Amino acid sequence: MKLLEDRIRQDGTVLPGNVLKVDNFLNHQIDPQLMDQMGAEFARKFANMGITKVLTVESSGIAPAVMAGLHLHVPVIFARKHKSLTLTDNLYTAKVYSYTKQVNNDISIDRRFLDASDRVLIIDDFLANGQAVQGLFDIAETAGIAVAGVGVVIEKRFQKGHQLVEDAGVPLVALASIASFEDGQVVFAQD
Ligand code: G4P
Repeated sequence: MKLLEDRIRQDGTVLPGNVLKVDNFLNHQIDPQLMDQMGAEFARKFANMGITKVLTVESSGIAPAVMAGLHLHVPVIFARKHKSLTLTDNLYTAKVYSYTKQVNNDISIDRRFLDASDRVLIIDDFLANGQAVQGLFDIAETAGIAVAGVGVVIEKRFQKGHQLVEDAGVPLVALASIASFEDGQVVFAQD
């Protein structure tokens, strides 16, 4: 998506450790117009696939997921990383390992919001090592629901997540695909 690539070139900063800082439009300050256009793009790419719900993980996945849900006209569910006061025991849970923080986190979704007849679209802001997506795959498997696709705003193609989704045989859409970082600059994948 050219608009997004231009924005990454303009406002993204490459930090040590192959981390792209995009907190002035994606995951701290949010540009709602850009989010809206990205939601529309996800909806176009995943049209007519029988998607009934969008799934994501809090917190940075929520904004693009809501916009995708808005354009697909389906509800959006975010897995929680922390126990909520109102979350009961009736949960699907999965472990998500964070390579950046080197900790295991539990994510959970209330069983009431997933139904065996659901076909879900997983949306997230970044696809890096794919651990968040793997956690949602695990929950989908436990709940017996189909995953119709994975949509990410930015994928770092050189990390494990891209392959993980491909190996699962699930269609993957990345609105911006980063092949590498070279001399502090972003190099986008060509295809
Ligand atoms: P994974 O989900 O693909 O496995 O991500 P990984 O463990 O490698 O990274 C952990 C966290 O760091 C994830 O957010 C992920 O979105 C984020 N992340 C990975 N690479 C980048 C990057 O280049 N730039 C930025 N800005 N973030 C990156 P999280 O801990 O789940 O945080 P949040 O959703 O609560 O913000």
